[in-house]
Amino acid sequence: MKYRKLGKTNWQISEISLGTWQVGGKWGSPFDHQSAEYILNTAIDSGINFIDTADVYSAGMSETAVGKVVRQRSEKIYVATKCGRQLDPHTNEAYQPAALRRFVEDSLQRTGLETLDLIQLHCPPSEVYYRPEIFGLFERLREEGKIQHLGVSVEKVEQALKAIEYSNVVSVQIIFNLFRQRPTDLFFKRAQQRDVGIIVRVPLASGLLTGRYSSSTVFGKDDHRFFNRDGAAFDKGETFAGINYEKGLEAVDRLKAIFPAAENLAPIALQWILRFPEVSCIIPGASRVEQIASNLSSLQRPELSEAQVAAMQAIYEDLIKAEVHHLW
Ligand SMILES: NC(=O)c1ccc[n+]([C@@H]2O[C@H](COP(=O)([O-])OP(=O)(O)OC[C@H]3O[C@@H](n4cnc5c(N)ncnc54)[C@H](OP(=O)(O)O)[C@@H]3O)[C@@H](O)[C@H]2O)c1
Repeated sequence: MKYRKLGKTNWQISEISLGTWQVGGKWGSPFDHQSAEYILNTAIDSGINFIDTADVYSAGMSETAVGKVVRQRSEKIYVATKCGRQLDPHTNEAYQPAALRRFVEDSLQRTGLETLDLIQLHCPPSEVYYRPEIFGLFERLREEGKIQHLGVSVEKVEQALKAIEYSNVVSVQIIFNLFRQRPTDLFFKRAQQRDVGIIVRVPLASGLLTGRYSSSTVFGKDDHRFFNRDGAAFDKGETFAGINYEKGLEAVDRLKAIFPAAENLAPIALQWILRFPEVSCIIPGASRVEQIASNLSSLQRPELSEAQVAAMQAIYEDLIKAEVHHLW
C-alpha cells in the first residue's frame, strides 16, 4: 500500500481506500453483516486505513459495521462519515445546528467510537455553503472532542470552491474519474494551495469503468443504477458519474481497445486517477471481497504510457466532455 497526506490533517491515508455505500451486499439488497465485516477486515488486512461511510448508508448499518470492525482492530483506522441527508425535506432551511449535532451524536452511538475522525457535510444544498453558523457548529463539536475534523462532500466544483474558504474544512469529497474531469480545471489547484485534502468518490463511475456491464446488464430495482439514471431520487451525477449509460458503454468499448489484454478495467481507471498528485485518496466501493484485491492491483501496474494517457483523454474529449463538463 502507498499512503498520501490528507491535507492539513497530516494523516497518512491509503491511496486506495474504501467506500462503504454498498458494503454488506449489492445496492438495495438486504444488509449482510458477515459479508460487510469480511470486506472491511480484508481491506484493513491489505493496508487500507481510511474508510468512508455515512449515517444513511443501509439505514445506519454501514456505520455500525464500520465501527464494530474498527473497534476490534489494533491499527489506527480513520473513519470518515457524513451527516445531513437524513433531513427530510433535504432543504437549506432544514440545515440547523441542533439537527446536525444530533446526527453527529447518533453516528457516535452507532459506531461506538469516542470521536469521529472526519465528519463530512453530505452534499448539502448550495445555500448551506454560505452559512458560517453551520461550519462554526463543527468547531464547537471539535472542541468537545466529538469530532476531529470537518470535511464536505460536494456535487459541484463551485460548492467545493466555496467550502474551502472555511478554515476548518480539511477535505473535499468529489467525483473525479476519466468521465468527470472538471475538478482539474481550477479546484485541484485551489485545494492544494489551501492544503485541503481531496477524497475521490465514484472513481469507477458506479462500476461502468470496470468494463463489466453491457446493454443487457440488469440492475436490481432497488439499485440506484436502475432508478436514478435520470436523477429521479438524488443528483443524477452520482449514478454512472452522470453519463448516459449507452454513451458510457460506447466510451468503455474504446477504452477496452486501448487495453485489449485487460479483463477488468477497474485497476486502470484507478491508476489514471492516482496520476494526479493533488488527490489524497480514492474510495472505490466494493460489493464483493474480490473487488478489494482487484482495485489494489492498480498499485502494481506498470505506469501508463503517454500514448495510452492521450488515447484515454481523446475518449473524454470526443464522447463525454460535451455531456457533463458544464454540469458539475
Ligand atoms: N454523496 C456522497 O457523498 C457519495 C455519493 C456516492 C458515493 N459516495 C462514496 O463513494 C464510494 C464510491 O462510490 P460508488 O461506490 O458510488 O461508485 P464506484 O466506486 O465508482 O463503483 C462501485 C461499484 O463498482 C463495482 N466495482 C468496484 N470495484 C470493482 C472491481 N475491482 N471489479 C469489478 N467491479 C468493481 C461494484 O459494482 P457491483 O455492485 O456491480 O459489483 C461496486 O459496487 C461509496 O461507496 C461511498 O462511500 C459518496
